[in-house]
Amino acid sequence: MKVDVLLGLQWGDEGKGKVVDVLTPHYDVVARFQGGPNAGHTLEFEGQKYVLRSIPSGIFQGDKVNIIGNGVVLDPSLFKAEAEALEASGHPLKERLYISKKAHLILPTHRILDAAYEAAKGASKVGTTGKGIGPTYTDKVSRNGLRVGDILHNFEAKYAAAKARHEQILKSLNYEYDITELEKQWMEGIDYLRQFHLVDSEHTVNNLLKEGKSILCEGAQGTMLDVDFGSYPFVTSSNTICAGACTGLGLGPNKIGDVFGIMKAYCTRVGAGPFPTELFDETGKTIRDLGHEYGAVTGRERRCGWVDLVALRYAIMLNGVTKLILMKSDVLDGFDTVKACVAYKINGEEIDYFPFDINEGVEPVYVELPGWKTDMTKMTSEDEFPEEFNAYISFLEEQLETPIKIVSVGPDRAQTIVRYTEE
Ligand code: GDP
Ligand code: IMO
Ligand code: MG
Repeated sequence: MKVDVLLGLQWGDEGKGKVVDVLTPHYDVVARFQGGPNAGHTLEFEGQKYVLRSIPSGIFQGDKVNIIGNGVVLDPSLFKAEAEALEASGHPLKERLYISKKAHLILPTHRILDAAYEAAKGASKVGTTGKGIGPTYTDKVSRNGLRVGDILHNFEAKYAAAKARHEQILKSLNYEYDITELEKQWMEGIDYLRQFHLVDSEHTVNNLLKEGKSILCEGAQGTMLDVDFGSYPFVTSSNTICAGACTGLGLGPNKIGDVFGIMKAYCTRVGAGPFPTELFDETGKTIRDLGHEYGAVTGRERRCGWVDLVALRYAIMLNGVTKLILMKSDVLDGFDTVKACVAYKINGEEIDYFPFDINEGVEPVYVELPGWKTDMTKMTSEDEFPEEFNAYISFLEEQLETPIKIVSVGPDRAQTIVRYTEE
């Protein structure tokens, strides 16, 4: 058996949570491989809306096994709040959620350091989610981190040493903070975590595969936020690309099957950093309003712009995407025409590849296509798609050289159309 991977191709918030939930009935297991509570994955069904941050989006469909892999960074207090809310809403998870002992812990001081580093950067701040993601991954790579498995032996001493080290850094930054409440909740989170299956998830995942179980790996963030290939330094601190599923779950590359790449019919970005197709006009505002483009957790306004096929081609290449999933085309229902960026112009020269630096002087070259002027949210099969919409899909497939297999036409689980195109 191989695993399938589902990941974002843009700057996050493409709709990963929704589609993982939709696809879960086809799998036995759903596994998160990177990121942490910087993610906000929204699911809607039966009139209810849920936002998941650290818990995989396979938690609502039957009694599927869900795994938090070693590549994830976990904040015990946020995890406790999320898990307790799910339990209270009738979705017990203790028996079917497995957490890697090798996943790194986000400490209260990591969160404070995140804020302190952002403050120190001033105008060039990244606009992080403030969840301590960067400092936690920094400690992992610099071999100073604490892992979930550490809570099982001599934890207090390890925590005290890590905290003391962080306090020294905060002192050198002259950063004022009060850790009391944060730390109290965090310690309660640590106790709560002990009730879960804490495992060597690389063995769990590979044994499940050997038993013939099917696994869907759920990415967080998006390819343009990848620490190596995204718009550095305005990125997150993990590898969001498909390779992250190998390192974040302990999977050999030959175990990767299909790679589902999710894209919106337009583009959004939250936080700072370059965004070549960003719209500062009424059109951008209209997309934000119609698409409810506000952070799932923070409520931050998302920046909006036209779809960027140069960046998408790059993302498809990096991830080895085999199937595309097109989200939120319904948001563009009312537009007379829609635009897609097919190339960049830099210093007067047109290029169709993603360059080293998109921070300055990138001018998008657009193709304008007829809008479909139809309420897509009511569609139940691809046979109902208007001609202009089919032409739009064919255009994207041709430009991206990858088939679009699923079209999402609304936030609800039911508003999802699978296309039966030939392989
Ligand atoms: P994720 O982080 O990739 O899981 O995405 P988010 O949950 O942060 O953001 C996606 C938002 O779009 C959520 O509010 C979803 O409910 C919503 N959504 C998902 N698919 C569609 C769609 O096809 N149409 C519309 N209008 N909304 C969608
Ligand atoms: P999901 O999984 C959108 C962005 C932040 C910031 C940058 C670094 O819901 O798609 P971090 O806190 O990770 O150090 O912030 O990355 N960012 C996201 N943007 N969706 C996300 O997750 C994001 N997670 C981080 O806004 O620009
Ligand atoms: Mg999100």
